[in-house]
Amino acid sequence: MRVLAMLDGNLADPEGRHLRVDDLGLMRGDGVFETVLVVDGVPRELGPHLDRLERSAAMLELPVPDRAAWERCVRLVLDTWSGPSEMALKLVYTRGPEFGDGTPTGFAMGLPIGEKVLRNREAGVRAVTLERGFDPEIVSRAPWLLLGAKTLSYAVNMAALRWAEAHDAEEAIFLAADGSVLEGPTSNVVVAQGRTLRTTPPSSGILRGTTQGALFRAAEREGWVTKVEPLTLDDLTEADGLFLASSVRKITRVHTLDGKPLPDSGALHSELAALYESEYA
Ligand SMILES: Cc1ncc(COP(=O)(O)O)c(C=O)c1O
Repeated sequence: MRVLAMLDGNLADPEGRHLRVDDLGLMRGDGVFETVLVVDGVPRELGPHLDRLERSAAMLELPVPDRAAWERCVRLVLDTWSGPSEMALKLVYTRGPEFGDGTPTGFAMGLPIGEKVLRNREAGVRAVTLERGFDPEIVSRAPWLLLGAKTLSYAVNMAALRWAEAHDAEEAIFLAADGSVLEGPTSNVVVAQGRTLRTTPPSSGILRGTTQGALFRAAEREGWVTKVEPLTLDDLTEADGLFLASSVRKITRVHTLDGKPLPDSGALHSELAALYESEYA
């Protein structure tokens, strides 16, 4: 069950061929994307996702995304969807064909949430820490590295997840060259200690997460303290709970890090999951 709508406002056959083979999104990963969670026909954090699409596009010097066209395209997918109550909605925006007229390629595709993600949401995950190979210092010095943009160049992120799976884990957490904690290949890191939630700062070259943002909003309303600051590996292992936040995985509990069991955070996970859901009640 998939629904595909092109940015020009037309539905398309999700099994069909719609891209030119010289599309730079395909040839060079030269484009940006978003994955939005839709529950019962309602997209979560659509505004922040479209804001981030615009920020990423600006970092790649792509044409400014036409917000009204994206909103129409999203609406078309939502109105056409007849699949499960939860949908992953991908928004893809590339530089277009290499020898074209400069018009970007854009489409929105709705698809069911993967089995693995659903299983991990329930059971929690084992994670391994992996070196990402850059120092947070480089972020402002080297804008061409596009750190903090959600580009289509996710081969490294996917390789990290395969590495994790080959080493008895379902997830990975990237560490910077100085040992500080960055993010997961497709998630943000959140730690809970007492009534404080912490996550790592976008200035370290990570993505500003919409799910982490929603969780922190809800937590602050309920009197939690939230902090966005650098975290060390010790902060992860010494916390009451370690979690990965992303649109499709919501708030997923990490129960084992680098092969070592972490403190049981089942009750804490239920509390944070309820806080996150309260944003959409
Ligand atoms: C690298 C990276 N960090 C963080 C996130 C979490 O972002 P969000 O909560 O907005 O889905 C994602 C989402 O896929 C990601 O790819």
